[in-house]
Amino acid sequence: MRNKILQGDTLKVLKKLPDAFIDMGVTSPPYNKKINTNGSIFRSIKYDNAQDDLPEDEYQQNQIDVLDELYRTIKPGGSFFYNHKVRHLKGIATFPLEWLVKSKWHIRQEIIWDKHTCTEFKGYRFHQKDERIYWLYKPIGGKVIGVKLEGKHAVCSSIWSFTPDKDNPHPAPFPVILPLRCILSFMGDRKGLIIDPYMGSGTTGISCKLLGHDYIGIDISSNYIKSSIDRISNFEDHIDVLKQELLLHVVKNSYKDRQKKKERELKKKTVINSFFS
Ligand SMILES: C[S@@+](CC[C@H](N)C(=O)[O-])C[C@H]1O[C@@H](n2cnc3c(N)ncnc32)[C@H](O)[C@@H]1O
Repeated sequence: MRNKILQGDTLKVLKKLPDAFIDMGVTSPPYNKKINTNGSIFRSIKYDNAQDDLPEDEYQQNQIDVLDELYRTIKPGGSFFYNHKVRHLKGIATFPLEWLVKSKWHIRQEIIWDKHTCTEFKGYRFHQKDERIYWLYKPIGGKVIGVKLEGKHAVCSSIWSFTPDKDNPHPAPFPVILPLRCILSFMGDRKGLIIDPYMGSGTTGISCKLLGHDYIGIDISSNYIKSSIDRISNFEDHIDVLKQELLLHVVKNSYKDRQKKKERELKKKTVINSFFS
């Protein structure tokens, strides 16, 4: 199954996979954007081979079931990064946290993705230019606090700022930097197997190849799978994204540096005070 994209409905495919063999995952599922209804502000998405208009309670239950299957197939100590957004259904803000708390995962962090751009300008609310990325964690033996990020990755902070991908014909891709940052930060120097259960145009596969990991993907559209395979085989086209990203994963001022700076400031103050006393 390594470096393969499986075709089919995500939940059905996941149910056939073994327990605890994947290191981590990252995805952006279909958002259930529906056709525009009164007070609903988002642009609907037309996928090649999938509807995006389930009744909301069915959609949320499907996402909980998918997340719980991912929990089963990912190893203890593993993580899943889930990209979604706050949607407004008939005027009411609907938060991904509403269903995430009902899944088996421990929610470790909510990351804000500042996209620099928004698609809706009607003024029912402030222009929405953010999406969310939820870091979900599967503890080892009940130890919920679990693994730490290395300092050089933690400096990326909980607000991520980059634009969506404009050069991708898929209707709803995320940019390579998004899965790349999740995988680079969580996996560090380890190599492993990464899943994207809604693979779309293969962006997570590209990030895996850039970082030297194996991937496993799922998508319902054979056309998207074909274009994913093509994009992933040309992963080196995206090497500049990796180069730029690595420059951000650097601790500029370590704790020791900050302590030394404080000591120097204190010394200066003592010299000045002793002059005036
Ligand atoms: C938001 S897109 C993912 C885009 C991807 N992150 C990328 O960068 O290209 C969601 C994907 O889920 C797929 N999809 C929708 N419903 C599905 C289902 N029930 N099972 C499997 N795939 C599905 C769509 O074909 C689409 O490619």
